[in-house]
Amino acid sequence: MIKIQAKRVERLVRAYHEGIAGPEQEDAIVTAFGIPRTDDLPLAELARLHRQYGLSNYIHEATAIEEIREIFRAINLAPGHCFMDIGAGYGAVVLYGAALTRARFCAVEAVPGRAVELARAARRLGFDHVEVMEQGAGDVDHSRADFVFLNNPFLGEENRRYLRRLRGQIRRSCRVIAINNIVAEFRQSPDFAELRHSAAIAEYKFGLFAPA
Ligand SMILES: C[S@@+](CC[C@H](N)C(=O)[O-])C[C@H]1O[C@@H](n2cnc3c(N)ncnc32)[C@H](O)[C@@H]1O
Repeated sequence: MIKIQAKRVERLVRAYHEGIAGPEQEDAIVTAFGIPRTDDLPLAELARLHRQYGLSNYIHEATAIEEIREIFRAINLAPGHCFMDIGAGYGAVVLYGAALTRARFCAVEAVPGRAVELARAARRLGFDHVEVMEQGAGDVDHSRADFVFLNNPFLGEENRRYLRRLRGQIRRSCRVIAINNIVAEFRQSPDFAELRHSAAIAEYKFGLFAPA
């Protein structure tokens, strides 16, 4: 049963990824991944998260499926690589990637309910190459990453603190994929150099970086 479900979703994602299926399939992919359309955190939980993990952006806003396709078309992700999504939410990015390749996907998410749902979706789809870690970005060891993906998890000074830590941990060959406001932080940091890429995503909101 799990195998049939996984194969169906893999076929759906692959057809979309290769351009055989069009944008009308994007909703079906979101539904197959089990990503909710809305998700409001109760204030008490928000306050607890800020106390526990620092000033962060705990609003869930998934990367658009079209942008995820552009990202995975633009990077050379191979089986055996380790792809980390820091602030993975419900896993739109890691589940899409896992449907395409047997690389190892590591999803780090601070909000317990999201981490639980993501782990459940990965199990349901038979994606045993997806590992979900319910924890804060500050506790992550990035040294095994080949790719680190960041869709705006932090706020203010927390961005700068995280970038310094990240630079101290990653290997020279590691590539950082950044989307939304956090891109500006990488562009301002002397620790990272921006690379050319082929992803058709607006330049102001997307960048690919290597350690400087
Ligand atoms: C904008 S959403 C992005 C979700 C997913 N990466 C995507 O692009 O579809 C940011 C996520 O980062 C998580 N987050 C924020 N701060 C975090 C932290 N310090 N540690 C781990 N996760 C964090 C939030 O809970 C939220 O689910």
